Amino acid sequence: MRASSALVESYARNRFEEQAINTMAQDVLKGLTADQKYIPSKYFYDARGSKLFEEICGLPEYYPTRTELRLLSNHAQDIVRGLRQGDLVELGAGANWKIRTLLEALGPWRRADVRYVPVDVCGPALLESAAQLTAVYPEVRVNGIVADFTRELHRLKSDRPKVVLFFGSTIGNLDEGEASSFLQDVAAMLNPGDRFILGLDMVKPVEILEAAYNDSRNVTAEFNKNILLVINRGLQATFNPAGFDHSGFFNEKQERVEMYLRARRDIYVDVKALNISVALKNGETILTEICRKFSRDGAEKMIRDAGMEVSRWYSDPKGWFSLLEAVLDQPKPRESVNVHRVGDGIDLAT
Ligand code: AVI
Repeated sequence: MRASSALVESYARNRFEEQAINTMAQDVLKGLTADQKYIPSKYFYDARGSKLFEEICGLPEYYPTRTELRLLSNHAQDIVRGLRQGDLVELGAGANWKIRTLLEALGPWRRADVRYVPVDVCGPALLESAAQLTAVYPEVRVNGIVADFTRELHRLKSDRPKVVLFFGSTIGNLDEGEASSFLQDVAAMLNPGDRFILGLDMVKPVEILEAAYNDSRNVTAEFNKNILLVINRGLQATFNPAGFDHSGFFNEKQERVEMYLRARRDIYVDVKALNISVALKNGETILTEICRKFSRDGAEKMIRDAGMEVSRWYSDPKGWFSLLEAVLDQPKPRESVNVHRVGDGIDLAT
């Protein structure tokens, strides 16, 4: 189900944009023709969406960012212990508040000797963030990489010692299959001695979770509806955000917050680049994001399944947010190997 490339070409300004719009066209066609309509959450993050997300991070109800920042500053020395002439690789870097805590912990000498490698899909955001960082820490070498961390981690292999960072519980926005293949890609980047630091939002009472995704200033609602404007612009669609209500609901069985846009009446939307019209009934929803919440056991299993093991676990006193450190799983000595000489008369059934 491909969108007409002639139509897409006429809207795109260059080859990269054309490729991005083609991917968007396929994603949106699949999502809006599914039984439960959905739009992938990666489309939240245009310039406005990224600003709104930064605003969310500072909201009183949105505890993850400040809890993770506190954990980072409490454990920064431990997280960067022993790192010399190596890399701090931050996946999905975005704003640079969190890395600053670790750069501070390195101190001026080690800062000059360690490289910061932010990885993000958005080139301009990387440049802006790198410029801000080098204005504060001129001694830091920044080597930004424009890449999609869900598909392109194999491009980041290096023999330098490294600590790979993935903050914000962004892993919770991937479904189980996506998270598992992402973690396997991370494991493939690590050499013995390298470490992986992963931020995880933990399961907690429903009132706290739902308040975090339904804030009183409606910033999350604006952020959610912004996805429609991104699709309008990318695919010449006619979504009117005012026709939808925002909802963030904790699905206890699946241990995840689900964000929806609910039609306030019967709605028809033209998606010109796809040559389709989409009908939504009054009350029908579009799923825009899943935000999985974790337990310690579940997280340890997820790490183990990807060929790593948890070597440190940092958490706040209420256990609302955690940072785990993982390393490559050591190959276990095989205890039950028996060696026999041919001719010993081995019964292979025993
Ligand atoms: C980016 N991500 C980890 C956020 C989250 O909490 O899942 C995105 C977000 N959606 C609504 N509020 C914040």
